[in-house]
Amino acid sequence: MNTKKVTMVTGAASGIGRATALMFAERGHHVICTDLPLTKIDEMQALTGGICITADVRVESEVDALFKGAVEKYGRIDGVVNCAGIEEKFIDARDMSLEIFEQTMSTNVTGSFLIARAAGRVMVPQGSGSIVLIGSILSAVGYGGNAAYTASKGAVLQLGKALAVDWSKFGVRVNVIGPGPVATPMSAESLKDPVRSAWMKERIPIGRPATPNEIANTCAFLLSDEASFITGAFIPVDGGWLAL
Ligand SMILES: NC(=O)c1ccc[n+]([C@@H]2O[C@H](COP(=O)([O-])OP(=O)(O)OC[C@H]3O[C@@H](n4cnc5c(N)ncnc54)[C@H](O)[C@@H]3O)[C@@H](O)[C@H]2O)c1
Repeated sequence: MNTKKVTMVTGAASGIGRATALMFAERGHHVICTDLPLTKIDEMQALTGGICITADVRVESEVDALFKGAVEKYGRIDGVVNCAGIEEKFIDARDMSLEIFEQTMSTNVTGSFLIARAAGRVMVPQGSGSIVLIGSILSAVGYGGNAAYTASKGAVLQLGKALAVDWSKFGVRVNVIGPGPVATPMSAESLKDPVRSAWMKERIPIGRPATPNEIANTCAFLLSDEASFITGAFIPVDGGWLAL
């Protein structure tokens, strides 16, 4: 009998998703890595020993095909971590195009919905599973020049709570992690800017951004049986940002 856990990570070609996929592989899971084509997703197959399937999280047919492929290969899915996400360039909302707003919402909110819905369709009949959505500290507080991203991450948090209420009685837990700044390609420009970087370090009580592994550790905990009574939770991993 196959006793290894089967875990899917979206956004696995970069940043938090990559670190999370590698961590689950190290911990002996079968890992399904997914990201857009033309990313570094192909190399994750060799690095994790699992499978890679490209999919755009905004596209229903691609997300459904992704889960079909995963279930055909492994027969079940125990955990899903949705790391796929985008952030608009810092811009005042008065100057933000509708296109930018909609792109951000469709990737971060519709993408989270489609991935979670497909996961729920596998996990609820199984009677077990754990889903982690990656929100942000901006799921809880505002931030200048970031209206689309902030709105999208607020929605991700509420989506996670709603799904937890619906599915926890079937053995499927859903939680939302709220990272503060993390050293990944997404935040590279901000962290390279000396003024913004100094401000962020001042703003974070621990005094530095997180490493991707510090977020991956929390994903691993939430997917483990040690988190068996945690569902519908928002877990900031922010070096104290939200405490200030
Ligand atoms: N880096 C930070 O400071 C930070 C802080 C808080 C929250 N987050 C969140 O963490 C998650 C991961 O961010 P990261 O920092 O690792 O960013 P990243 O840019 O390094 O990785 C994001 C990945 O998502 C993929 N992606 C984007 N659009 C996609 C789509 N439509 N379909 C499939 N894949 C898609 C990208 O190709 C990329 O590989 C995001 O949801 C982000 O909002 C990041």
